[in-house]
Amino acid sequence: MTGAGGQLAQAFQELTKEDGTCVFLSKSELDITDTTQVGAVMAEASCEWVVNTAAYTAVDAAESDEEEAFQVNAEGPRRLAEACRAHGARLAHVSTDFVFDGAANRPYETSDEPGPLSVYGRSKLAGERAVAETLSGEELIVRTSWLYGGRSSNFVSTMLRLLGDRDELSVVADQFGTPTWAMTLARRMLGLIDADARGIHHVTDSGSATWYDFAVAIRDVAFEVGLLVDRIPIHPISTEEYPTPADRPRFSVLAKARTDRLLGDCAPHWRTSLEQHLSDAKGTLQDMERNGG
Ligand SMILES: NC(=O)c1ccc[n+]([C@@H]2O[C@H](COP(=O)([O-])OP(=O)(O)OC[C@H]3O[C@@H](n4cnc5c(N)ncnc54)[C@H](OP(=O)(O)O)[C@@H]3O)[C@@H](O)[C@H]2O)c1
Repeated sequence: MTGAGGQLAQAFQELTKEDGTCVFLSKSELDITDTTQVGAVMAEASCEWVVNTAAYTAVDAAESDEEEAFQVNAEGPRRLAEACRAHGARLAHVSTDFVFDGAANRPYETSDEPGPLSVYGRSKLAGERAVAETLSGEELIVRTSWLYGGRSSNFVSTMLRLLGDRDELSVVADQFGTPTWAMTLARRMLGLIDADARGIHHVTDSGSATWYDFAVAIRDVAFEVGLLVDRIPIHPISTEEYPTPADRPRFSVLAKARTDRLLGDCAPHWRTSLEQHLSDAKGTLQDMERNGG
């Protein structure tokens, strides 16, 4: 697995720690943009599946760092796909809801035409296409959205910090998507790998929300489990009131029926996953306190 240290890779690590069959490689151990290193690692590893969680994920920074974003998100996956083809391994590659333009008024199907609005979205779409061209139908591409989990910095950890430090907050309330716990995504990707799935799959938690809805839920659940001592006011604002370098889709909920049929169930509602994540986070903090950490 590439991108060890990232939030999705941390979830895979947690889920597979008992069986020990999965090897996790950080950027320093496997830089996916380095053809020689990719070839050498693949020759040595003789693995059945490669899971690519490595990516350039700084959506706003990518606007002024296009070359690096395309190197990591498009050329890196192409090199991995070529190495998988050469060594007879399957590739599971992770992509994003940001390949869509957000103009839809119903959840995006895997067959819908992409139309990325940002450098990040274009680089991820180029990665999907490079993988599909190289592996001609043998690839598994999993699009997800609004990911959080592990010890990395993400929307949930940022909100928890701000909700603890500030007297009030304003959060964008006119972009709709689905918050997704990295554990849900990792579990369902393992299910897709077991099912020998091919082509594009959409995997997120269930339901939909705005960033404002998500922030309110984080505040309320964190307060209930004792991670916050207070519930500060959160104000809904428009995208125009919170300008960012990268444009984001106004609506990027992904249709998951095809994947749910294959897996025989559907993902938990995003709020259920959030509750689980925050109660796990509370448990980790309590363990650290008990152990004097
Ligand atoms: N985060 C989201 O909200 C979101 C939403 C939709 C889709 N996705 C997709 O989901 C996947 C997993 O995302 P994530 O949130 O787990 O990402 P993440 O936490 O940012 O982790 C990405 C990892 O990739 C590593 N990396 C960067 N460049 C690399 C290179 N050249 N070679 C090898 N490793 C490299 C990073 O290492 P360094 O930290 O050392 O650079 C980091 O450990 C990605 O494909 C992402 O595009 C994410």
